[in-house]
Amino acid sequence: MNRKQLWKLLSGLGLAFGVPWFLMILIPYFQQATASPVPYSEEEGVDGFTVYPDPSYGTVGASDYGLKIYEREGCAYCHTQVVRPTYAGPDMWLGWGGGPETARETRPQDFAGEAFAHLGYQRIGQDLSNVGTRSTREELHRVLSDPGSVSTGSAMPSYRHLYRKTDSGWAPTGDAEALVDYLLSRKKDQPLPDSVR
Ligand code: HEC
Repeated sequence: MNRKQLWKLLSGLGLAFGVPWFLMILIPYFQQATASPVPYSEEEGVDGFTVYPDPSYGTVGASDYGLKIYEREGCAYCHTQVVRPTYAGPDMWLGWGGGPETARETRPQDFAGEAFAHLGYQRIGQDLSNVGTRSTREELHRVLSDPGSVSTGSAMPSYRHLYRKTDSGWAPTGDAEALVDYLLSRKKDQPLPDSVR
């Protein structure tokens, strides 16, 4: 190969990989990284929220340790955390979109403040983006300590190693409480301002 051919090959490779990288990674990265919170207009009258995304709603915050447990126990191998648009899947129809009045698809800004977006690998179990809007602490401890009692023949493994046996049943350890705090914090149904809808 002479110099000219080598130059052609390298610039061809550069174009083939560089242009998609620029369009699909770099531009969206800067669009998302510099997106600032959007205020609601006065007419919207959204209770309790002043901006979207609200830093205290559905973000990890106090349950950082619970997030570590979620990562350590491999929950993301079976559970996703992204409510797909209806053209891409039945998530909204399955009730994963959030509260009855507020259910919606996930937007990139819903991950603001999270160091890592746990989109997940497979959808063997339900999407957990909004599990905090549809579960109680007791229900979550029950699923984790004894999935079979919630649905017979469950494909979900038992996380009983996060519980201690007591005379009255399975008592959560600190790790189980932290994990459940994290799950209860999962809410990605903050109402969107009209301007971003
Ligand atoms: C091997 C796959 C698998 C793994 C790993 C797994 N789950 Fe599950 N999970 C399921 C399946 C399947 C269900 C559906 C209900 C059933 O069959 O029991 C489920 C149900 C649930 C539910 C009830 C969801 C709802 O909408 O009410 C919660 C909460 C949950 N899992 C949390 C977790 C957490 C937290 C972890 C990690 C500690 C985890 N799961 C690990 C498969 C899994």
